Amino acid sequence: MLFSPIKIGGLEVSNRIVVSPMCQYSAINGVMTDWHTQHLMQLGYSSAGLIMVEATAVEKIGRITHNCVGIYDDKCVISLKRNIQLAKSVTPKKSFFGIQLAHAGRKASTQRPWEGRSTLRKEENSWKTIGPSPIPFQETWHVPQEMKLLDIERVKKQFISASLKAVKIGFDLIEIHGAHGYLIHQFLSPISNKRKDKYGGNVENRMRFPLEIFSSVKGCLPKDFPVGMRITGTEWENNGIDENEATIFAKELEKIGCHYVCVSSGGNTPNPKIPIGPHYQVHLANKIKKNTKMIVRTVGMITDPIDANNIIINQDADMVAMARAFLSNPRWVWDAAKVLNHDIEVPPQYARRN
Ligand SMILES: Cc1cc2nc3c(=O)[nH]c(=O)nc-3n(C[C@H](O)[C@H](O)[C@H](O)COP(=O)(O)O)c2cc1C
Repeated sequence: MLFSPIKIGGLEVSNRIVVSPMCQYSAINGVMTDWHTQHLMQLGYSSAGLIMVEATAVEKIGRITHNCVGIYDDKCVISLKRNIQLAKSVTPKKSFFGIQLAHAGRKASTQRPWEGRSTLRKEENSWKTIGPSPIPFQETWHVPQEMKLLDIERVKKQFISASLKAVKIGFDLIEIHGAHGYLIHQFLSPISNKRKDKYGGNVENRMRFPLEIFSSVKGCLPKDFPVGMRITGTEWENNGIDENEATIFAKELEKIGCHYVCVSSGGNTPNPKIPIGPHYQVHLANKIKKNTKMIVRTVGMITDPIDANNIIINQDADMVAMARAFLSNPRWVWDAAKVLNHDIEVPPQYARRN
């Protein structure tokens, strides 16, 4: 089952294995570097059905760090195009590249993970962040500027512009980052959104900005162009988004033509109570799958091919994404194919390995 094809919008993907989006924090002024070239090329011939390129900022202030990739100016676009062309040149048929479009909102302007992951100090060239409400991610972090209606309109336009660029660059799929405590998630959550206007309050209002972003993107793409969202299945907080609100949101996404959701969790508060362990988010995907007809992708500490296959067989999810498993073994799919007795296309140069 893991190796059965699946159609996302108009795109037929060879299998249900996805390289999860992973920030490399290695760009300069939003522009990809040689690090990205080797990273994406080696993942290109991983034989995963879908390879997601990292969270890519739709505007400069939407980057998490100084070293995040952007899609907001010509230099970014040229480098994205060059890297995708190179990666695609070694990618098997029916393996595709998606881009994750993102805005970090109040979680922007931070250090890279290996520099401490904290909010940037003035001397580190910090920048002013934005968010639904002037509530920092944690006490010591920047207080975001509450977005005015003009900011909301600007960000919508940036998502549209980024989507049009992504199609021109040659991406096969677009994913909107609606999870991990970034801007879209910040609007959805009652923890970070205390607005008194039509974008805050009850869940209908908190969903408004995320749904408007989705509709804006969807509206500028050809009908069958695959577009989905990474969402939060729960915030693991008593006063946050829970599985029921996540389901309400997913149902609304489905109504407006969302092809798939990837169900992740947490990230909007500094110390959520996450029962971390193998497959800890699969039940969240299952809940959305039971309540919608959309394609549902699961993620989170899935490493074993038999387990991944069982997730599909049990109909907990339709696709399985993995991040760290691909960092430690970019040939995960080749090994899984052996375990599950399946023939896959690998580069002939490396075929003797089989
Ligand atoms: C180095 C690294 C960078 C990540 N960057 C992103 C990102 O850009 N966008 C995103 O949605 N998730 C990101 N994540 C989260 C992963 O996509 C994934 O959801 C998470 O690592 C859990 O999957 P795993 O247990 O297979 O690693 C990142 C994870 C890692 C390890």
